[in-house]
Amino acid sequence: MQVVSISSLKGGVGKTSVTLGLASAALAAGIPTLVVDLDPHADATTGLAVSPGNNLGIGDMLRSARRADLAANVVPSGWVETARKQPGNDPKRRPVLDVAMGSAYSGIYDRPDLGKRDLRRLSTLLGKVTGYGLVLIDCPPSLNGLTRMAWSASNRVLLVAEPGLFSVAGTERTMRALDLFRQEFAPNLAPAGIVANRVRPTSNEHTFRLAEMKQMFGDLLMEPNIAEHANWQQIQGAAHSVHHWPGDSAKQAAGSFDALLKNLVQTGSMRNRVMRRPAG
Ligand SMILES: Nc1ncnc2c1ncn2[C@@H]1O[C@H](COP(=O)(O)OP(=O)(O)O)[C@@H](O)[C@H]1O
Ligand SMILES: [Mg+2]
Repeated sequence: MQVVSISSLKGGVGKTSVTLGLASAALAAGIPTLVVDLDPHADATTGLAVSPGNNLGIGDMLRSARRADLAANVVPSGWVETARKQPGNDPKRRPVLDVAMGSAYSGIYDRPDLGKRDLRRLSTLLGKVTGYGLVLIDCPPSLNGLTRMAWSASNRVLLVAEPGLFSVAGTERTMRALDLFRQEFAPNLAPAGIVANRVRPTSNEHTFRLAEMKQMFGDLLMEPNIAEHANWQQIQGAAHSVHHWPGDSAKQAAGSFDALLKNLVQTGSMRNRVMRRPAG
């Protein structure tokens, strides 16, 4: 089971969007996937079209991590039904895309001083589930308790950055934080890489920043980057999978996420990948 945290210390760069895009690609590829929505804003949960019922959100489960039954409280994404109705889909195929729902309550763990025991709460929960090939953890935009809890439970961290000055600088800081965290708490944790999001191919500034990122981060800068898509908010607003949205732009975005997922899974199998520090 590959557990990937999707992180950045900056908000609004596209963590949730990348989580949703990868979840959509995993659903299309038939990889049984769990999305853990660790951001108290619970945007990923909204985007994945879940009907909560009486299931516990992730905050309540974290609180009683030893006793809580994660498998009994995950909720299937509404995208699964749509996937099953797609033309050409084998009705016997039952794709799995589950969600551990986000909740404002998880915010109580988003403190800077979270102790080692608390940091293990998510790994304790995940240690009890089987059957998923991939777990995607959508993190809040900070390096407080929740992100550190996510990193403690992960094999790898995927950083999301926009090709702008502040975002690039922020990514470098996040890489340093990740390096320190790895040394202290999680020797087996590795960066999966950095994905550039909202890239406008015609923007000179973006071209410049992408070249800068390539120079700074080398092959940690993942292929492909994700372009700025005009109808992205509409797709998310409708709580739809990008793979099920009509039109060429959605098709192009879906293709990017297919390729990104493939690269993510491939680099994941390179076990002894040594963490590279940013140059300079
Ligand atoms: N590639 C993209 N193209 C267009 N809009 C995007 C793209 N990625 C993210 N957005 C939009 O930017 C906003 C912030 O993205 P979000 O994924 O919520 O960021 P984060 O989770 O890092 O806070 C959202 O309104 C989202 O729809
Ligand atoms: Mg988010």
